[in-house]
Amino acid sequence: MKVEELNVDEKIGHVKDVLSDAQKKRGVLIHAFQSIQKEYNYLPEDVLNALSKKLDIPLSDVYSTASFYKHFYFKPRGRNVVCVCVGTACHVRGASKVLEKIEESFGIKQGETTEDLSMTLETVGCVGCCGLAPVATVNEEIVGDLNPKKVGDVIKMVEGK
Ligand code: FES
Repeated sequence: MKVEELNVDEKIGHVKDVLSDAQKKRGVLIHAFQSIQKEYNYLPEDVLNALSKKLDIPLSDVYSTASFYKHFYFKPRGRNVVCVCVGTACHVRGASKVLEKIEESFGIKQGETTEDLSMTLETVGCVGCCGLAPVATVNEEIVGDLNPKKVGDVIKMVEGK
């Protein structure tokens, strides 16, 4: 039998409608997450609760869908995101010292956000600029050849935004 000869609608019957409802809801969820995160910079718990009720999707499904994607956040994020590369090349060239200095300067640990929401500090495996190691990104900008003394450059970039 050729593919063209298959009557897909007949084969899957009402299952098609059930699946498409579920799929539509999942699709709506992703768009809703994007809009919410654009507005709040993360996915606030009370907004996810309201979304769950509005779409009639169990809250556990809302969370499991959101947590599947790495770019949705459940905690408030800073207006600036500093990401220190801790990949092998950066590690051997002193990334941990750079990270320590940034943590000390902003009073937060990696994965945390300053109280005034000015900055979130993260780490990453490799940003593809190993020749500039050690490297950090400030939002979209790359700062290379870092050392604890040059952390001031990163601070200026955060404060200037
Ligand atoms: S290991 Fe840091 S940029 Fe590649």
